[in-house]
Amino acid sequence: MERIYLDHAATSPMHPKVIEKMLEVMNRTFGNPSSIHSYGREARHEIDLARAVMAKSIGAKENEIIFTSGGTEADNMALFGVAESSEQGKHIITTAVEHHAVLHACEKLEKLGYEVTYLPVDETGMISLADLERALRADTILVSIMYGNNEVGSLQPITEIGQLLKDHPAKFHTDAVQAYGMEAIDVNESLIDLLSVSAHKINGPKGTGFLYVRSGVKLAPRLFGGEQERKRRAGTENVASIVGFREAVEIAMEDRDAKREKFAQFKQIFLKVLQEHEVEFALNGMLEKSLPHILNLSFPGTNVEAMLVNLDLAGIAVSSGSACTAGSIEPSHVLVAMFGKESERLTNSIRYSFGFTTSAEEVMNAAEETVKVVSRLKK
Ligand SMILES: Cc1ncc(COP(=O)(O)O)c(C=O)c1O
Repeated sequence: MERIYLDHAATSPMHPKVIEKMLEVMNRTFGNPSSIHSYGREARHEIDLARAVMAKSIGAKENEIIFTSGGTEADNMALFGVAESSEQGKHIITTAVEHHAVLHACEKLEKLGYEVTYLPVDETGMISLADLERALRADTILVSIMYGNNEVGSLQPITEIGQLLKDHPAKFHTDAVQAYGMEAIDVNESLIDLLSVSAHKINGPKGTGFLYVRSGVKLAPRLFGGEQERKRRAGTENVASIVGFREAVEIAMEDRDAKREKFAQFKQIFLKVLQEHEVEFALNGMLEKSLPHILNLSFPGTNVEAMLVNLDLAGIAVSSGSACTAGSIEPSHVLVAMFGKESERLTNSIRYSFGFTTSAEEVMNAAEETVKVVSRLKK
């Protein structure tokens, strides 16, 4: 049976060029980047090149990039790092639809005595700038609002948020794990102070990411040990993964526009098949102001577990939301925030997400299989 992978938002396959580059580095460059000898210097050189590529990709300076073990660590580093080093107050603003890497960090911060405001979203998954303005206080130290949502794809008004915070001392963090490589991001244009990225969402290796931290932003370290990453993140660098990540970023930047166009067409193809077969469905989120690779649909009269199992039997890998909530019976906190606890959409929504390996034919086949499964389940 031909299998179709439409869960690129959970994780994406590594690009062959990334694997090739990593193998080359693993074979050739085993030195410790902190060593002074030539072996160490070679490894350091590879990391320096990567840092320059990451910085350029978001309009940052090289010394503003801290390599991490992925998006989760970058988010935690941003939240705890700013909270612990701030003396102006203990109030944080975030949204109800963040990834758990932000939400659970916020819950921990609440236990440590910080106060967190969770902004609501409307039915399209967007926050309102007026709500943010109302929530801002003199003692607000951090505003953490994701760039694009991993379950429904909604893009937040990042540049407008940056403008709103321009004259406020609160730092602005955004989790750009899903948006990076899809959206054109410029930390200066959008006045972003901290930004999280993960390699495995853009065809790089798992367990690698970076946190951008604007020069001058105080950040208490979370790891103590050596002096790596300018004492902001101790530990010997994961050289091969960082180099693989670099390759993935270079490819992602080059392919971004073509991918955006391709994925927008995929969404149209998918929806057209459903419409032609008169399948009842509703879009969770919206087509505009949304990440191009994420399509989240609700199928009234079906049930998410049965849908996932039946689609898997047909060889189609999709998910019910974030990788963390998939497989658990907990309803998606994102859909709860958008539609309320009682909404039927919590029990009948599926996320399809595209990537560089996805073809139009696969999208068509997946849509046709979805039609069959939905009709079967509704009988
Ligand atoms: C929006 C968002 N933030 C953070 C993460 C966590 O990143 P990582 O898997 O690299 O820890 C994910 C991964 O699902 C994500 O989608």
